[in-house]
Amino acid sequence: MSEYNCVKYRCPSNIALVKYWGKKSGGVQLPANPSISWTLTDLHATTTVTRAKLDDTHASSVSLEFFLAGEPKPSFEPKIRQFLERIAPMMPQVKEFHWRIESENNFPHGTGIASSAAGFGALALCFADFQRADLAGTQTWSEEEFLQTASIYARLGSGSACRSVYGQPGIWGETKAWSKATDEFAVPFTAEVHPSLNNWADAVLIVDDGEKSVSSTQGHDLLKDHPYATSRYQQAQINLERLLEIMKEGDLEGFISLVESEALQLHAMMMSSEPYYLLIRPNTVAIIEKIWLKRKETQWPMAFTLDAGANVHLLYDKSYSQSVMNFIETELLPYCKNSLYLCSNIGGSPQKN
Ligand code: DP6
Repeated sequence: MSEYNCVKYRCPSNIALVKYWGKKSGGVQLPANPSISWTLTDLHATTTVTRAKLDDTHASSVSLEFFLAGEPKPSFEPKIRQFLERIAPMMPQVKEFHWRIESENNFPHGTGIASSAAGFGALALCFADFQRADLAGTQTWSEEEFLQTASIYARLGSGSACRSVYGQPGIWGETKAWSKATDEFAVPFTAEVHPSLNNWADAVLIVDDGEKSVSSTQGHDLLKDHPYATSRYQQAQINLERLLEIMKEGDLEGFISLVESEALQLHAMMMSSEPYYLLIRPNTVAIIEKIWLKRKETQWPMAFTLDAGANVHLLYDKSYSQSVMNFIETELLPYCKNSLYLCSNIGGSPQKN
């Protein structure tokens, strides 16, 4: 085994255009429908994993410590322990070492931004990298095999994280629209994206920075007995097929209406779960209506989307940056908590530091 004791990766967060919402029964973290996302290059997690060989006596359980922004965070350890237990059958070294995991996000804490995609993406890349190094000499992984392994591991931490390992849009979940797509890991959308959809950015308007009343994992669970689950999964299939065509053709109107409809369908599923719940806030709705009004007046290529929370992602063509920034500053900031919004480019890959 090689002397390979410390690995560091930076991994971007991502925002889904077609949403993963609901898991297949059977299997671990398999999506009930396909999804696709853009990586948010400038909102990322950086994770350093250091390992030390354990005595054989300890080798049956997972041994770890976790630090977030330099502080020990034992409350995060059960989720990371579960992740390590899940990858151990594919990576036996997991139980042979003590793991010290240090992670930090470059966006402020308490902004309500889901950091699990970036965090588990970075963590999975570190573990896949250790494994690649340990196997060197007996096996050589192509870059594609390495990223697929990282994506499988990321999925086992948090489903949406598996799409964060690619700079190109990440497709996750079986669909006849993309033959390489699978439930096990995400794959990059390698078709040529039309120039009108290839230069976009995201401004995340922070409406609520508190803890969510229902976590994503709980939300997914409520789809099991959901009266509309089957039709939602069918609709997501149709939407993903349409979106891939839209991205190739550059149909801006189609893009905007599909992406916004996906966001509202996600929240409609929450509102019609049993028990029902609401994550959007009055300011979420106010911002959406401002965006609709402004687009009607100006025809700017911009669309909102939502993740499982109250914050609004304003996606826009970067050629309109100046106008959109001015719009945000003058019309949307009053609806943002502490006047906060975070900007990111789209489409960056993870990096090994
Ligand atoms: C609403 O990936 O956070 O952001 O797999 O249980 O960890 P777990 O859930 P998570 O779900 C997020 C779903 C979403 C939509 C999406 O990113 O596709």
